[in-house]
Amino acid sequence: MNATPSKHSFGMIGLGTMGRNLLLNLADHNFAVAGYDKDADKVALLGKEGAGKPVEGFAELAPFISSLQTPRSVMMLVPAGKIVDSVIDELRPLLSPGDIIIDGGNSHFTDTERRAKALEAEGFHFFGMGVSGGEEGARFGPSMMPGGDKQAYQVVQPMFEAIAARVDNEPCVTYIGPGAAGHFVKMVHNGIEYGLMQLIAETYAVLKTGLGLDNAAIGQVFTQWNAGRLQSFLLDITKDIFGYIAPDTDHLLLDDIKDEARSKGTGKWTSQVAMDLELPIPTIDTAVAMRDLSKYKALREQLAGLYGPAAGALPVEHGAFLAQLEQAFYFSMVITYAQGMQLLTKASKDYNYDLQLAEIAKIWRGGCIIRSGFLNEIFNAYKGTPDLGHLLLDGQVQKLVNEAAPGSRAVVAAAATAGLALPGYMASLSYFDTFRTARMPSNLIQAQRDYFGAHTYELIGKEGVFHTQWTPEHEDAANKKDVEVGQEHKTEKPVTPNK
Ligand code: 6PG
Repeated sequence: MNATPSKHSFGMIGLGTMGRNLLLNLADHNFAVAGYDKDADKVALLGKEGAGKPVEGFAELAPFISSLQTPRSVMMLVPAGKIVDSVIDELRPLLSPGDIIIDGGNSHFTDTERRAKALEAEGFHFFGMGVSGGEEGARFGPSMMPGGDKQAYQVVQPMFEAIAARVDNEPCVTYIGPGAAGHFVKMVHNGIEYGLMQLIAETYAVLKTGLGLDNAAIGQVFTQWNAGRLQSFLLDITKDIFGYIAPDTDHLLLDDIKDEARSKGTGKWTSQVAMDLELPIPTIDTAVAMRDLSKYKALREQLAGLYGPAAGALPVEHGAFLAQLEQAFYFSMVITYAQGMQLLTKASKDYNYDLQLAEIAKIWRGGCIIRSGFLNEIFNAYKGTPDLGHLLLDGQVQKLVNEAAPGSRAVVAAAATAGLALPGYMASLSYFDTFRTARMPSNLIQAQRDYFGAHTYELIGKEGVFHTQWTPEHEDAANKKDVEVGQEHKTEKPVTPNK
């Protein structure tokens, strides 16, 4: 191993792609670091790639821990779930009160809350930190979302700020909030990621099936979009994907890839938590659902045979339609971010995370998977109004959305008419139109619930809840039943809500 100082500033448990590259990034910034992994090959790879840098690898946990200066800062980058708990159990006897443990994996925020409480009670500091940007981000500049003990953050802050991506010379890392706030924000980042990826996939379908463009032309569209207001990491990699020829062939690797999407679960968690918080994020929900639907390949083939293939060409003039499609994508992208930001707003209140949405948008401008030019608009919106109730309430965003909405309508209408599935685009447009519906038809749902389940309803301008016998037969039956149970049932009188 390389000659390194006797004590290291930072230790990493888990020398997989992310862990190893984060360590190398730290070493590039002159932090003396140690890495541990049970897999000797991974330790050897660290040694090889860390040659000449202040990096030391260990295959045994105890010497690894002993090599760290105190208070120790130990980060885990291991798969989310039970492994994290078992690593913590191994660490406990080797660490001292005041040491800092950081979980940099995509752990579920409720697991992080549980771990933080237990470890803080034992005198340790615990951080759940979202790390975004994949292998390249870890190596050269991720976006990081640390949540946990604010005091302890000061110990690791210089290291994280040194290695983070930078935008306008500012590090894409900030203290997110207490407890599991960091992992919660990372989860929502991934929910937005799912939504944006779904929109790009649907755009691919419009270009390929709707307009009949070949891969070169499709790649050209993404390249052009990425050079303008749609600039984003996801579009940037997509244009590359449309240029990657499968080895020893004359066609794109993309054309050989199965159309069944997989997931590690963070998008699903986002939808689950949003439902728990009663906070609608339909574009993200749709993205999760479409990944699931894509798995039903055999059934899709059966139904395509029964009902005919989904869609044919769109009867549109390509030039004008492409301009509308750019508008529609921009509109749907804004809506997707807006849904994620509103979920953060709700969670911040419900979980007391005290999230600073401007700061979160700011550190998402670089290093992370959802980085894009539009994040500057989000940053400006929440910087100007920290307690903004919804991104769509921002004046500048309102202007951008109003300009782009017509394109969304045109694309959704054309696709629906042609039978081209655009669930993400359609969910985004309906979300927008529903949120600008001052009186929704939900009064009918309330009436139905009261009719069949006596679940009661509220009346405009009146206090209390009400129940109605909606037909004479119901009235007779109720009176008969009431007589039996001694209650007086009157239409539209305040009643004790049915339990
Ligand atoms: C990131 C990525 C990262 C991981 C994806 C996998 O921010 O760097 O989001 O965390 O690669 O979450 O996502 P899937 O759920 O699609 O597998």
